[in-house]
Amino acid sequence: MAKNEQTAENAQLKDIIAHAKEYGFVYPSSEIYDGLQAVYDYGAYGVELKNNLKRLWWETMTRLNDNIVGIDAAIFMHPTTWKASGHVDSFNDPMIDNKDSKKRYRADVLIEDKAAAYENAGDKERAQQLLSAMGRLLEAEDLAGVRDLIVNEEIKCPISGTSNWTDVRQFNLMFSTQVGSVAEDASTIYLRPETAQGIFVNFLNVQKTARMKVPFGIAQIGKAFRNEIVARQFIFRMREFEQMEMQFFVRPGTELDWYKQWAETRMKWHKALGIPEEKLRRHDHEKLAHYANAAMDIEYQFPFGFKEVEGIHSRTDFDLKSHQEYSKKKQQYFDPEINQNYIPYVIETSIGADRLFLMTLCNAYVDEEVDGKQRTYLKFHPAVAPVKAAILPLTKKDGLPEKAHEIVEALKYDFNIIYEEAASIGKRYTRQDLIGTPFCIAVDHQTLEDNTVTIRHRDTTEQERVAIADLHGRLAEACSFRRVFERV
Ligand code: GAP
Repeated sequence: MAKNEQTAENAQLKDIIAHAKEYGFVYPSSEIYDGLQAVYDYGAYGVELKNNLKRLWWETMTRLNDNIVGIDAAIFMHPTTWKASGHVDSFNDPMIDNKDSKKRYRADVLIEDKAAAYENAGDKERAQQLLSAMGRLLEAEDLAGVRDLIVNEEIKCPISGTSNWTDVRQFNLMFSTQVGSVAEDASTIYLRPETAQGIFVNFLNVQKTARMKVPFGIAQIGKAFRNEIVARQFIFRMREFEQMEMQFFVRPGTELDWYKQWAETRMKWHKALGIPEEKLRRHDHEKLAHYANAAMDIEYQFPFGFKEVEGIHSRTDFDLKSHQEYSKKKQQYFDPEINQNYIPYVIETSIGADRLFLMTLCNAYVDEEVDGKQRTYLKFHPAVAPVKAAILPLTKKDGLPEKAHEIVEALKYDFNIIYEEAASIGKRYTRQDLIGTPFCIAVDHQTLEDNTVTIRHRDTTEQERVAIADLHGRLAEACSFRRVFERV
């Protein structure tokens, strides 16, 4: 990306962040105390949008697939879980401190930024060489070599402007805390860094109690925590975030077919939600984690470039096997079709609810000039829009508010509806555009005569006259998840 293009893209992210705060989507956490880095709160419309996205994912998984069921596991788990999963020993990022500014950085991110600078200056080859050199050093766990690379590349701390670096050290990303009174038998436990392990340790519980047969899946939505050192790009990388993960248990040897199938299904889901094909791309991992035999990301073109929204991994039998080893409890499944016991292989689909939210917001944000006037609106798919319709009496008198309230009563049990009577109708339309309400329903004097209203459509601003009796059906049709499901 050329430098001026990059600046425009960053400006767009800034606009989106400002919009999210101004119109009740996302605020910095504990803002009155100047916020807490990489932690955010969702406002009145943000929470509705996020809940809709989570419900859409949940229902796609558990309703469209009769062989997937859900669970809700606790955030705290027995600490041995994280030994077995490998997180205690290897869930690390390489860190480096600048001795002058006392600021801590991820060593790999400093080098990636330098590579991006080469690329922006048109030197793609040098950028690639640098990234390859870093990859080799990290692979060999040569942290002294990583430091040398930073020094040789003359990478400076953006705060102090010096290259007075400490050694590079591995830094574990898990947050820990104590159970029990610290004075007594305190023991260290972790805030889960992924929800997946709650599914793995419950694999047999769910299989038996829900009477599932391989192939089957377990879905879960829940909080995860990572002590991310580099907190950037708004809610893209947070310390407290939500994951939506599904582990699909399959017969060994069939996993790569299932992997292919899930990769296609998940890509279709993003497109069904209205994300344009050219803004999505598939990134196949060349270097695989030790437990995986295939892995890919679905990336979206954020204002700061193509970045991962969802990961799809073929995790072999690594997790269940490791839990069997550490717990000494068999994690086998008896397959009646082939009369064999085995530890199933697992395909994982894992998407961050916050990243999905950010992608949806970026994709919906429209700031355009129409007839010499600037117009900003959020073109959410009606199925996930925070508010489905605003009911707006033209004036505050002549019985129009009463008629409008009747319409609210008729719709509010099935749809999130707003009633507004303050300000001119034009200003009220604009307010709804800014929070992405797909339909504005105006109640005027004609309504009192013939029980019709005007529907104003957010994206086109076109208006049409509709009978009040048809409103429920119109909203149900436009906002139904079926609209998305049918395209998956
Ligand atoms: N169980 C596999 C797993 O956790 P991951 O690639 O580390 O894999 C999966 O995370 C998804 O979780 C990512 O694709 C992203 O959407 C989301 N995610 C990961 N770290 C995050 C963070 N710090 N902030 C927000 N979302 C995050």
